Amino acid sequence: MTDTNHPAGVLAPDGPPPVPEGASQADGGRAEADPGTAAWDVAAIRVQFPILSREVHGRPLVYLDSAASSQQPLRVLRRVARYEREQHANVHRGVHQLSTEATEAYEDARLAVATHAGAADPAEIVFTRGTTEAVNLVASSWGGAFIGADDDIVLTKMEHHSNLVPWQLLAARTGCRLHFVDVTADGTLDLDDLDRLLERRPRLVAFTHVSNSLGTINPVREIVSRAHAAGALALVDGAQAAPHLLTDVARLGCDFYAFSGHKMCGPTGVGALWARRELLEAMPPYQGGGEMISEVKLEGSSWAKVPHKFEAGTPNISGVVGFGEAARFLASLGREAIASHEGALTRYALERLGAIEGLRLFGPMRERTSVFSFTYGDVHPHDLSTILDQRGIAIRAGHHCNQPLMDHYDISGTARASLYVYSTAEEIDALCDGLAMAAEVFRGIS
Ligand code: ALA
Repeated sequence: MTDTNHPAGVLAPDGPPPVPEGASQADGGRAEADPGTAAWDVAAIRVQFPILSREVHGRPLVYLDSAASSQQPLRVLRRVARYEREQHANVHRGVHQLSTEATEAYEDARLAVATHAGAADPAEIVFTRGTTEAVNLVASSWGGAFIGADDDIVLTKMEHHSNLVPWQLLAARTGCRLHFVDVTADGTLDLDDLDRLLERRPRLVAFTHVSNSLGTINPVREIVSRAHAAGALALVDGAQAAPHLLTDVARLGCDFYAFSGHKMCGPTGVGALWARRELLEAMPPYQGGGEMISEVKLEGSSWAKVPHKFEAGTPNISGVVGFGEAARFLASLGREAIASHEGALTRYALERLGAIEGLRLFGPMRERTSVFSFTYGDVHPHDLSTILDQRGIAIRAGHHCNQPLMDHYDISGTARASLYVYSTAEEIDALCDGLAMAAEVFRGIS
């Protein structure tokens, strides 16, 4: 993996895009592969996703909800099936052949996921149920051990509830204070506000790499460096970034990075927390149980080494195996090529959606990924979603687990279309045609 960040989700409708943090200077940060060109054979990718050939309500499925959960390629489905059919046994417990194979598959997946995150040491990857559990792990373990009533934690107003509620729970337990970086009108973080909050010398700045509602790519390295300069640790919610960007934790400089398997072509119910080893070693266990111990006496126990100290009980072995295969699948496509494909599609989607009268698009036009939240006239997002569903088009509607952000914009929710490696320009056309039809329907009603 290169140590660059994402070169192509950064859009510049009016000319060459700026080079995002960490992007290769050589390519100017430009999206080079257009969908459908030899550089990116989207048809060849789509055939690897069996679900994409099904119909919904008698129409070909147009799946535009990958930010909620992406689809899985045959390679992942087959790897999980092979594990279940031929290799299933518990891990780290038996010396028999099946247990050995299951353990190897599990630890091999840790290596693949570590590589995906740019982590040099696989022991710094803790498998969890997903991003949500990864953040809860940090809030509970690190927060429980190191945060007290006099401490401040800085979050942002664009956090998914999964990077907000765990900190609210910690605040309720400890009395610590939470502060929120403001969001600007165009959907980026107000870094001056961050600086003001950093004057409080918080213990932690926890923020999302990419907004799940706005698509905003936050300047992680900049925020991390300001946090560190103020004496704070930095936790990054990477759920919407790890599938799309070149995530390199060493380069980003953060202390914790959380992400999920099911948004990056893997199964649901599995994700990872990456954390610097010395932090994991200093943190107490999150849950107690089998396999997280070194020795247990009735009077007390000692803990296994990291990462096993944080993986109590029988883990989601098939999920982890699938997660690892998904990471390898994305590597086989090429992380920069994925970014280029999505960058080209994003530019196209912004152009098409931007031309629709009455459609209000949220989020910045640059430094963003392929997530498009919008309102359309006064049509309720759920109605929009239902009408599009009748045409086989799957989008998400609602507050997207971002209620404070919706409050910030004084709206109850948005419709949201989101793309991924298998998305096409024709699907964006289908969305726009569906919106035109919805406009007709609602004109008839009103
Ligand atoms: N966090 C996921 C989303 O944004 C579920 O849709």
